[in-house]
Amino acid sequence: MSFQPVLLIHGGAWAMPEAEIAAHERGIANALAAGYGLLERGASAVDAVEAAVAVMEDDETFDAGRGSFLTQDGRVQMDALLMDGSNLRTGGVACVERLRNPIKAARLVLDESPHVYFVGAGAERFARQHGMALCDNMELVIPREQERLFKAQAAELAGLPDETFSGSLSAEKLASHDTVGVVAMDSTGNIAAGTSTGGTLNKAPGRVGDSSLIGCGCYADNLSAAVSLTGWGEPIMKLVLGKWAVDKVAAGASPAEAAQAAIDYLYERLGGHGGIILLGPDGRVGLAHNTPRMAWGLQTPAGPQLGVTRNG
Ligand code: GLY
Repeated sequence: MSFQPVLLIHGGAWAMPEAEIAAHERGIANALAAGYGLLERGASAVDAVEAAVAVMEDDETFDAGRGSFLTQDGRVQMDALLMDGSNLRTGGVACVERLRNPIKAARLVLDESPHVYFVGAGAERFARQHGMALCDNMELVIPREQERLFKAQAAELAGLPDETFSGSLSAEKLASHDTVGVVAMDSTGNIAAGTSTGGTLNKAPGRVGDSSLIGCGCYADNLSAAVSLTGWGEPIMKLVLGKWAVDKVAAGASPAEAAQAAIDYLYERLGGHGGIILLGPDGRVGLAHNTPRMAWGLQTPAGPQLGVTRNG
């Protein structure tokens, strides 16, 4: 039996200024082209997800790979997860600092390791042992992010309200959550999901967010759905929200209903903000966010669609 390939991408959910929209749309279009091109040539959903995420990691528009937010000590520290819904094989890496494409390291873990998850120096060693080149962390740091970190730390020192770290909901909505994520279905009907992030601005070194934690920012199971989330990681982790959402699909909700329910639950239970993409095993999709904007792209045999959705 042959299935119609589907690729759905998010490129962050936050109060994206007008000036940033074109770059996000360009980045998502490039990721769609890479991932969907593979699906059209018969590649697996896992291959397509990995390729599309890697394109966004290489694009400094997004908070993933080069151009990620910086830690308190001015370094890039990244997390990524890749999951194959056909067999639940999963690869995750966290707190990696010397890999240009953490999603490719996650793929190696998925393919080559009996384990699911590697962190820090051990993850980098595993990637190098399996053929990946290590880079210098400063190759991943860009001036835009050094300036952003400088401003956040200056505000903190001055005791000014810091829009990124304030606990107030309106302030959190303004903060940037430019994590990237992809879900895909291939022509055999298998689904997969991947998420990659540099985490949150000015995070403590060693902090891990939701993105690479299985069932939190990413999950895929042919028996339920594939999901990727973006947003402030801690509330998403506390709710294990990715698994919560795919379980809703398994229980009969459409991906669109489950996506909206997950974002409502995130807000109602913990006051969290973010965005979600979901793909069911029947090819139906859903997306939802409660941030002012969310960047996304969808490709099916009917062609590509992309946009930056606005709330309110
Ligand atoms: N959602 C990205 C993070 O909190 O790390």
